[in-house]
Parts: sequence; C-alpha cells; structure tokens
Amino acid sequence: MTEVPDYLFERSRQRRVALGLISDDGSGGAAPAVAGSGGVLATSGAGTADVIAAAKEAAKLEPFGGASVEPAFILAAKTRNKVPIWVLPIVFLLPLWAFVYVKLTEPPPPPITAISEGAATYTARCVSCHGGDGAGYEGGGIGRPLYNGEVLLTFPDLNQDMIHWLEVGSQGIGLGNIYGDPNRPGGPHISGETGANMPGFGEVLSGHKIFSVLRYIREVISGEDISEEEETYRDMEWEALGGGQDTGGGGGGGH
Ligand code: HEC
Repeated sequence: MTEVPDYLFERSRQRRVALGLISDDGSGGAAPAVAGSGGVLATSGAGTADVIAAAKEAAKLEPFGGASVEPAFILAAKTRNKVPIWVLPIVFLLPLWAFVYVKLTEPPPPPITAISEGAATYTARCVSCHGGDGAGYEGGGIGRPLYNGEVLLTFPDLNQDMIHWLEVGSQGIGLGNIYGDPNRPGGPHISGETGANMPGFGEVLSGHKIFSVLRYIREVISGEDISEEEETYRDMEWEALGGGQDTGGGGGGGH
C-alpha cells in the first residue's frame, strides 16, 4: 500500500479545522506544510489516526439505493403527460365515424332500371321453361321460343293484350282460344296448342314487374328496335306502375 505523505494529512487536518469539522488539537504543529521545505516533513504522530477517521467520516457518501433512486423507465412513466380525459369519447367514437365515413363514400348501388329488373324477374320466373336465351322448346324447354323476334310476331305491341297474356296464362285465355296477333305470319298462336300450359303471373308479380319482364323479352331477348321516344315513354310507364322504387332487385317476390 502506498504510504500517504504526512504533509497531506496535515493539510487535510488544517482544512477540517478551518471548516469546523474537528477541533484543533495542535497535532499538526506550527509549521505549515508548504513547498520549499524539501518535501519531507516530520511525522505528526498521534493525530494521524484521528485525521484519518475524520476524513473517512466526512467522505461518507449519501446513502445509495432505497426509495430515492428509481429506474429511469419508472421515472419516465411517472413524469410523462397523462392522457386527457376528453380523449376517451374520441377514442370510442372513432370506429363509428370510420364506419359512417366508409358508408358515405362507397359508391351507391347501380340504380334499378326496367331492363335490369326485367332481367332479374326473367331469371327467377321464366328461364326454367323458356331458357336463358329464350329458345324455349327449341332449346330444351317447354315454353314457346321468345328469341329471334318470335315474341314480337305474336305481340307486335307492348300493350294491354300482351300484359293480359302474362297475367292469366294459357288457362286464363282459355285453351283453344287465339292469343296475340290473329294475323301472325304463319298463323295465330292458340292457347294450349303446344301441349303445355303457360301459368299466369298476375298473382305473383306486381304491375311494374310484369311490364319490365315483358320489356326484357322484347328488347333484350328478341332484340326489339325502339325509338328513343318509345323508350322514354316505356320508362315513364314503368315508373307510373311503381318501378324504380324498390330497393332490392330480383323478381322473386310478388306484391
Ligand atoms: C311452366 C313453364 C313456363 C313458365 C314458367 C313460363 N312460361 Fe311462357 N310459355 C309457356 C308455354 C307452354 C307457352 C305456350 C303456351 C301455350 O301453348 O298455351 C308459353 C308462352 C309464352 C309467351 C307467348 C309466346 C308466343 O309467341 O306465343 C310468352 C310471351 C311467354 N310465354 C312469356 C313468359 C314469361 C315472361 C315468363 C316468366 C314471367 C314465362 N313465360 C314463364 C311456358 C312457361
């Protein structure tokens, strides 16, 4: 262990006396331990132990550990800003807002037109006998062919005559009776002559659905060529019957 020079003890003792930490017992003697003395001073004797004890006492550090010192992360948690209470309703209403926002910004469903409504009704009510393309018994169904202008030959106009046929069917017309144009090329069509009966739809389809499915078989299946005026007129007719007010498509329901 390194020997501590006595003059350092003496200097320390004097300092402590000056600070009032210890009383001057005179152990240091009168000679100030300063330079110029050649560096070697006489040992001060008995006072040294006291000086060391006092120095140790004074050097005692603040007690370390315990409650006064906390890890940095706990301090950070305790001192950071708390979330203000008014944030809570915002947090809870945010999903609702997001939902409404998405609902409002998504594109509206395509509007129901007479043709789209008629297509849906045709799929639900007519395809089984007349086929998707309207081939009827020419395509494996039991109904009359409606495509290639066939239905337009039987019913030259979209009029009450045609509507009546769809409402009452073969039995309603009366088996053996002519329906449609009596001057139809190739001879008029007679109810029941195909050997199968067409059901009436007046009970299961609303007025505008009957009108729109007839438009569909004329304009789409049979390719009827109509003027813009006629189209506008038919749209107005369909709306007057209540068309375009339903929210759902489809021809399943009748009312
Ligand atoms: C159960 C089978 C069946 C269903 C379903 C059916 N039809 Fe028919 N349809 C027939 C038959 C059979 C005839 C021929 C009637 C007859 O000979 O008396 C016919 C004839 C017709 C005719 C007359 C065609 C012509 O040139 O003589 C039209 C128009 C017609 N159907 C439209 C429809 C529409 C529109 C639907 C759907 C709303 C429909 N049919 C559903 C069996 C069906």
